[in-house]
Amino acid sequence: MTTDKTMDTYKRTGLVFVKGSGCVLEDEDGEKYLDFASGIGVSSLGHGHPELAKAIAEQAARLIHVSNYYQTKEAAALSEELCAAAGMDSVFLCNSGAEANECAIKVARKWGEGRGKGGSHKSRIVTLTGSFHGRTVTTLAATGQEKFHAHFAPLTPGFSHVPANDAGALEAALGEDACALMLEPLQGEGGVVPLSDDYLKRAARLCAERGILLIADEIQCGVGRTGTFLALQRLGIKPDIATIAKGLAGGVPIGAALARGEAAKALGKGDHGSTFGGNPLAAAAARVVLRTVTAPGFMEAVELKGKRILAAVGSWNHPLVKDARGRGLMLGVVVSVPPDKIKALCIERGLLVLTAGEDVVRLLPPLVIGEEEIDRGLAILRDALDAAAE
Ligand SMILES: Cc1ncc(COP(=O)(O)O)c(C=O)c1O
Repeated sequence: MTTDKTMDTYKRTGLVFVKGSGCVLEDEDGEKYLDFASGIGVSSLGHGHPELAKAIAEQAARLIHVSNYYQTKEAAALSEELCAAAGMDSVFLCNSGAEANECAIKVARKWGEGRGKGGSHKSRIVTLTGSFHGRTVTTLAATGQEKFHAHFAPLTPGFSHVPANDAGALEAALGEDACALMLEPLQGEGGVVPLSDDYLKRAARLCAERGILLIADEIQCGVGRTGTFLALQRLGIKPDIATIAKGLAGGVPIGAALARGEAAKALGKGDHGSTFGGNPLAAAAARVVLRTVTAPGFMEAVELKGKRILAAVGSWNHPLVKDARGRGLMLGVVVSVPPDKIKALCIERGLLVLTAGEDVVRLLPPLVIGEEEIDRGLAILRDALDAAAE
């Protein structure tokens, strides 16, 4: 690419991709790359998935957009199917993760009206350090990482952050003025940091006992990526609100805020909206993804693939690998050299990976990846680590 007027916000690799098939991407020079990134956890069915491409093409020919003044069969069907998969009562469809979280925050704030001490407005939202909730001014305020806040003050007030996996700190922070606790069950951008099962159960219990909504930001870890539709379903925890996006429509922009119980009814006419949200094109794509990931055995296979990767990385006893963690196909390899260095060495060898936090090589392969591809990618990763250790 010779010219690019895009604002200079991305640290790009220099690669220019022109097509993809399955878990392989091809650049403008015809070089092929095995994809262990899925964009950033988005291309859940890989590239050029025939059923997904067909559904998008057919929907585009039939109807792309009508606005939310009208219902469409595709959005109505998707809403039903999403609520069924997530165990929720209602859904707001939008276009991205940040938007889904904005909706969740609005639901929580409106729900909190009049529920505080003496009929006051419970409006504070507690989130965790190391979290990432989006790039809008409000979701940045929710994000518990200072580095994302710089330059953009004043951020939206009413958020407080407590250390992740510290139940005592959480207990102290969930006061009477709090309307919600928002957390990623498995933190993504923060470095693929799992919240412990005990901590998550305690958090859910505290919220229920104190009349505080639990918002699960499952934008990265949801939609089957960790082996259950919502990551919290593995523990039998039912959040009041769950947000999903990324892999939900296999690459077509979409986001969804799902809600249950009182939260499901908090917003009324005129409280929220989106020009593009729930358009039939995105809905048709999401229905294919949903059908695929909820098919019998699919998510169990995702969990096993993750175990295969973790076992392999663990068996290397590599001097640069400090830890390998995560679940399903959301994994982090903690390294003792800058992860960008490993990423660059992987790319040179034909493997796309991501980084996260300060010291993590992040793996988010398409959920449809096969065992042979996993082994091939792992061999490249190991070779890249060896090269970095030289
Ligand atoms: C957990 C989580 N929440 C929110 C977001 C924001 O999503 P989007 O970039 O689609 O706005 C992300 C994106 O990385 C994420 O990982």
